[in-house]
Amino acid sequence: MNDLAATAHSLFAPGKGLLAADESVHTATARLASYGIATSAEMRRQYRDLFFGTEGIEQYLSGIILFSETLLEKGNDKELFPASLVARGIVPGVKVDGGTEPMSSSSAELITQGLLDLPERLAAYHAQGAVFTKWRAVIRIDGDQLPSASAIHENAKRLASYAKEAQSAGMVPILEPEVLYEGKHSRARARTVLTETLGTVFSVLDEHAVDRASVILKTAMALSGKESGKKDTPEEVAEDTLAALRESVPSDIAGIVFLSGGQAPDQATANLEAIARRAREVSAPWPLTFSYARALQEEALELWKGEEANVPAARAAFLARLKKVSAALG
Ligand code: 13P
Repeated sequence: MNDLAATAHSLFAPGKGLLAADESVHTATARLASYGIATSAEMRRQYRDLFFGTEGIEQYLSGIILFSETLLEKGNDKELFPASLVARGIVPGVKVDGGTEPMSSSSAELITQGLLDLPERLAAYHAQGAVFTKWRAVIRIDGDQLPSASAIHENAKRLASYAKEAQSAGMVPILEPEVLYEGKHSRARARTVLTETLGTVFSVLDEHAVDRASVILKTAMALSGKESGKKDTPEEVAEDTLAALRESVPSDIAGIVFLSGGQAPDQATANLEAIARRAREVSAPWPLTFSYARALQEEALELWKGEEANVPAARAAFLARLKKVSAALG
């Protein structure tokens, strides 16, 4: 196994997964505002410290995906965040895409930016301590015509270019073509779109000669749309998610991590548990784990409210959720 593949492999240590804490300034501002917390650069730093400063997270987290701003910030312990994570055996990574914008050919669809200055930024992030990277593309399902083959293909091409650049810079790529949960679609439609999206991503990856041994896929689960009125059982989600993955994902990538996508914490935990169980039943070839943002953060943010006095209770809630999500891996 080469060094990059070994790093990717280390993120799948038994019982451990990833915390996605890579909200951009825009997303972090909106996230905090939704909990009634006014934002500033200092409030975003405290938001990161709330989670990273929780004692014991290393039992459940192999890595944390950071936003570039956070690579240069210090925790309340006066240590740079990446160094303090490394000291606890948690691998720091960084989101490297530049966010999305509407596609010119189809304004209901989104295309991810950020390739132009990517080599320079990768070198800088690597020097700042990031070991792995993430690029998120967004695929909308809702509407009879969506997603278009051109939106999937253009996002896949950019994911492949990114993966190649990340590997050249000596960093593990996490490819996240997120099929959105929002919408009124059925679970069957989500499964079809997942299969088509992931199939396209991996065939374009081959055309770009990306080394699959250090590629990590970050994916949504196959879920009925959030506004569909349908509540899937964890077993239904597991069945359709594994079916889509087995049809479209090569067996020799480093592993698969799941995003929570707006599911409630208990829902994301129960669905992961069923997926992990089903994966064992069908002898799925890849290691699997979580890479949640909202489902891991929600309960803690509700308690925190931006107040110092609430930090211990919020951290206890975060640790309790991590313990449940880790246990769901089985
Ligand atoms: P959620 O778990 O909140 O979907 O976030 C994961 C992520 O990394 C989105 O880019």
